[in-house]
Amino acid sequence: MTKKRRSSLWYGNKDRDGFIHRSWMKNQGFPDHAFDGRPIIGICNTWSELTPCNSSLRDLAEGVKRGVWEAGGFPVEFPVMSLGETQMKPTAMLFRNLLAMDVEESIRAYGIDGVVLLGGCDKTTPGQLMGAASVDIPTIVVSSGPMLNGKWQGKDIGSGTDVWKFSEAVRAGDMSLSEFMAAESGMSRSKGVCMTMGTASTMSSLVEAMGLSLPANGALPAVDARRMALAHLSGKRIVEMVDEDLKPSEILTRDAFINAIITNAAVGGSSNAVVHLLAIAGRVGVELSLDDIDLGKHVPLLVNCMPSGSYLMEDFCYAGGIPAVLAEISHLLKPVKTVLGSDLEDYYRDAKCWNRDVIFSFKNPIKRDAGLTVLRGTLAPEGAVIKPSAATPELLEHRGPAYVFENVEDMKANINNEDLPVTKDTILVLKGCGPKGYPGMAEVGNMPIPAKLVKEGLRDMVRISDARMSGTAYGTVVLHVAPEAAAGGVLALVKTGDEIVLSAKEGRLDLLVDKEELLARSAYMSTPLPDYERGYIKLYIDHVLGADKGADLDFLVGNDTRVPQRESH
Ligand code: FES
Repeated sequence: MTKKRRSSLWYGNKDRDGFIHRSWMKNQGFPDHAFDGRPIIGICNTWSELTPCNSSLRDLAEGVKRGVWEAGGFPVEFPVMSLGETQMKPTAMLFRNLLAMDVEESIRAYGIDGVVLLGGCDKTTPGQLMGAASVDIPTIVVSSGPMLNGKWQGKDIGSGTDVWKFSEAVRAGDMSLSEFMAAESGMSRSKGVCMTMGTASTMSSLVEAMGLSLPANGALPAVDARRMALAHLSGKRIVEMVDEDLKPSEILTRDAFINAIITNAAVGGSSNAVVHLLAIAGRVGVELSLDDIDLGKHVPLLVNCMPSGSYLMEDFCYAGGIPAVLAEISHLLKPVKTVLGSDLEDYYRDAKCWNRDVIFSFKNPIKRDAGLTVLRGTLAPEGAVIKPSAATPELLEHRGPAYVFENVEDMKANINNEDLPVTKDTILVLKGCGPKGYPGMAEVGNMPIPAKLVKEGLRDMVRISDARMSGTAYGTVVLHVAPEAAAGGVLALVKTGDEIVLSAKEGRLDLLVDKEELLARSAYMSTPLPDYERGYIKLYIDHVLGADKGADLDFLVGNDTRVPQRESH
């Protein structure tokens, strides 16, 4: 133990400050040898009963602690803000950057040498990674893992994806309200995150593909005993990483992000990965732009999981999980270092697929060219995103008249009007739902199909907004239009009846209104900023970057790896 550790600045000195740091920690019963210079490992926990997807993390923290002690470290668990996707208003995304600040400043201010990030629910993984990347001490991720498959009326049902389907079925009169209510309990029947390939499982999968967790982190169910073993092994490994001084900046290279983009396409991952990857890259100083997302455009869809397919994460795990996918796309992957200190190839060299209905081969994929596609054009000069794998193929090339909702209240108040002047060819446009406009960039982009069209049997139409959509959602939905309407984007100037052209093949999204007319409209049309005059939300609105930049706060981009030297006493 000759190496001078970061924690020694807190616990290594035989003086008044060292006395204070050690003595108060000892009130928890830690013995002298906990402070003998061994690595001190923070366990950054987003457990909360208000984040049900992370409710297993207290158990997993115990597994991590076993591993840390076994390897000769000293584990200390600490809480950070938790973001319950299904519980927070107006949207958990509004608080991702606040969690990132909490994580960053907690890691920086405390005497720890390495950190294990315990997260799971959608925004917790990226928020924790953004914060940890800005401090850049050795870091490993352990995710909650997905819930067991939902079960109802003898069928498997998927988090989110089947909520959207059931609610449309109720509106169409194909499902009774009492059946709808009865499905609730069967959908969420164990601890864990959404068991579709939603944002949570997408992010835990991409964390694995970037080498920031041990292999198998992406898909092991939350209640599978092997996840507890994974937590134990991660605790062991972080102690070694501290001794090797293996930091996120060595792992989160541009090539690791490219691997994540390619993997996201192969698994049919969430469109939300775009804003999260861009934001994390910004923290480590990696040049990654929206255009890089197109690197996944021609990657085929291999994983048959909802919302792009029909199986669930439990099936995906048993079929081989992320290692089996990485093996299929290995020829597309860049060599990168992982938390094991070796190449990513070690994650998948011996991987096998056990079920070809769930994980298709590269030669015989579910769909070709299925990755997220970036759109640009007069309606989205700074870009927009569409997820072709979850869209209706015929609608990916479409021209039609706009029907405009000025904000989400307008949409909710009128979408069920029987006399809404829309047809299957209409393009629904929604404004005021971007980072500044909502605020927080809500998941309302997959707005419901107008009631009168649902009754005619229509289940999809082109929808365009500056919002996001849930990773569990589906449809021909253009998202993340930038600049957003509330930031002065062209989106704010769209009127009902304007013609819009979408071409996923060409990567285009154009508003067919000439420049002079748009200039004239800008004199009397705008989307207002929401009315917040104080606190974090005011700070957020004033400083949030566009979706094309990851929607981080402008002053949080980058990192500061200095260790605080001053004491409080
Ligand atoms: Fe938490 Fe889906 S709502 S993971």
